[in-house]
Amino acid sequence: MTEKKTALKAPKGVPDYVPPTSAGFVSVRDAVTSAARRAGYGHIELPIFEDTTLFARGVGESTDVVAKEMYTFSDRGGRSVTLRPEGTAGVMRAVIENGLDRGQLPVKLCYAGPFFRYERPQAGRYRQLQQVGIEAIGVDDPALDAEVIAVADEAFRSLGLTGFRLELTSLGDDSCRPEYREKLQNFLAGLDLDEATRERARINPLRVLDDKRPEVREQLADAPLMIDNLSGASAAHFAAVRSHLDALGVPYEINPRMVRGLDYYTKTTFEFVHDGLGAQSGIGGGGRYDGLMEQLGGQALSGIGFGIGVDRTMLALQAEGIDPSAAGRVDVYGVAIGPEAKAAMVPVLAALRERGVRADMAYGDRGMKGAFKAADRSGAGVTLVVGSDELEAGTVVVKTMATGEQHAVPLDAVVGHVAGLASAADRD
Ligand code: HAM
Repeated sequence: MTEKKTALKAPKGVPDYVPPTSAGFVSVRDAVTSAARRAGYGHIELPIFEDTTLFARGVGESTDVVAKEMYTFSDRGGRSVTLRPEGTAGVMRAVIENGLDRGQLPVKLCYAGPFFRYERPQAGRYRQLQQVGIEAIGVDDPALDAEVIAVADEAFRSLGLTGFRLELTSLGDDSCRPEYREKLQNFLAGLDLDEATRERARINPLRVLDDKRPEVREQLADAPLMIDNLSGASAAHFAAVRSHLDALGVPYEINPRMVRGLDYYTKTTFEFVHDGLGAQSGIGGGGRYDGLMEQLGGQALSGIGFGIGVDRTMLALQAEGIDPSAAGRVDVYGVAIGPEAKAAMVPVLAALRERGVRADMAYGDRGMKGAFKAADRSGAGVTLVVGSDELEAGTVVVKTMATGEQHAVPLDAVVGHVAGLASAADRD
């Protein structure tokens, strides 16, 4: 006798998306990519793993993402490779390698897929996370910052989300950051902090501003903020971004203490926060990165982009009671009783699919009751029924599921009739 095998599970913190929720996954991904496409972003498909150096150099050695969360391993040739923890560094690598930065600027790109971070899994925090991102590279124009932000805002709104906020700040540029950093470090040196926090203040003082402990927060009340110490050029850039957003009708609030988990940000930096998600409230974030391309061996070109978390956006939809999969899996469902009826139904459904109507039918031998139950579950607006009476009469019964109304249509006319119904429903 063979031993019964234990059922396997997905690795910890790695979600599956199966029907019907996977329809919501696709809706979220499509909402972002469609908004990006409407603004002229072209698709870029990137490797899932890259040389480890790319992320160490691009994202920053002192970030948690690089220091603690990367899936890094040696391949069989002894090279150190890493499953991508984020998309921006890979996009820049590909832009440089393919010489896109030598063509028309800005280079506008959109990507979607899984990213990997060894974080402590909890609701909305996964080890394989899904993002849709865009990057606009090569032009340092506040109007472009506003466009990138507006694409994200439009994507969220097109899904019906309303319970989110856009937080905005500026992290300054090369001409004001070093001076500010010193000012902040001097301020932090005068506080009563533990050794680990002092060390953090030395390596990345900005991150101390994000400390959540009340005793630390209290001491930070009068900390100098980047936004009050911007260079003239950075301040003007930020003011222009804000007035573009005002003109676009995109609401925002300034959060001068925003700290992003990646080191490459300069100037405009933002986060979309949803209030229905608890601790993991960031549904998307991004910003401008002046030095990244140069850091990766390319020209000194600036860029701006965002990454939207598909998993968390799905949780946000759920929190607002929006079911993006409510549209149903198919438009038409076929119920055919007996092999001859099935033989009549199969080409009808094939012809409907050819016309762009989503169609499925009851397979196997489940009887009338089971087949109707499956029709209900499919979410189809129309059910087609062929039994022995219909076969004899050469007709198909067309049932509108919402009203229960039904009538017989000649078999040779049913495709045109039903395709007409489906496109009328699309217009509603
Ligand atoms: P990020 O803020 O690290 O930015 O990630 C973007 C979004 O991905 C977050 O707002 C969140 O919704 C989602 N996310 C991040 N980590 C997790 C996780 N462990 N589980 C579930 N969702 C998660 C970036 O990755 C930048 N590359 C964005 C960017 C593009 N900046 C400029 N261009």
